[in-house]
Amino acid sequence: MKRPMLFLAVFSLIVGGIQCDNKIVSDCLTCAEQQPAGQKITLSEIQQTIFNPQCISCHGGNQPAAGLNLSEGLAHLNLVNQQSTTAAQVRVVPNNSSASYLVWVLEGEKAPLMPPTGALSRTKIDSVIAWIDRGAENN
Ligand code: HEC
Repeated sequence: MKRPMLFLAVFSLIVGGIQCDNKIVSDCLTCAEQQPAGQKITLSEIQQTIFNPQCISCHGGNQPAAGLNLSEGLAHLNLVNQQSTTAAQVRVVPNNSSASYLVWVLEGEKAPLMPPTGALSRTKIDSVIAWIDRGAENN
């Protein structure tokens, strides 16, 4: 009696995994949540790998560009649910990367490209998108 149940459990795990792989992260909130905790992109990882090396030279200090301070400890406060100072957009809308102005500037199609010297890699942009679509937590 127990075997069919076990088979079913293993089978649905495998199928679930395959469905996950076929979707891009930003379309796949529930799949993203099924990933092991170690694979979740956190704001601190984004801080270390993107904001610190590539943004805070302009978006830090006493007079950050566009009034946007991306320094450690301030980035969440400055981004999430905050109105852009240069466009009629919200900088980060939790769970809605496509409405988030931060993503617009990183992609540079509907807004001036950031960083101005050249776009981040697709992987880095996707990690920001994934963080937003998981709720833009202060994690
Ligand atoms: C060389 C300086 C410089 C660097 C580096 C830079 N920015 Fe900017 N950023 C600016 C300036 C200047 C503006 C204002 C642009 C405008 O007036 O449209 C701006 C605007 C923005 C805005 C819009 C803010 C708002 O409220 O409208 C966002 C979001 C942004 N930058 C994110 C970033 C991110 C993320 C990085 C790093 C990946 C980055 N920027 C790197 C200079 C910079």
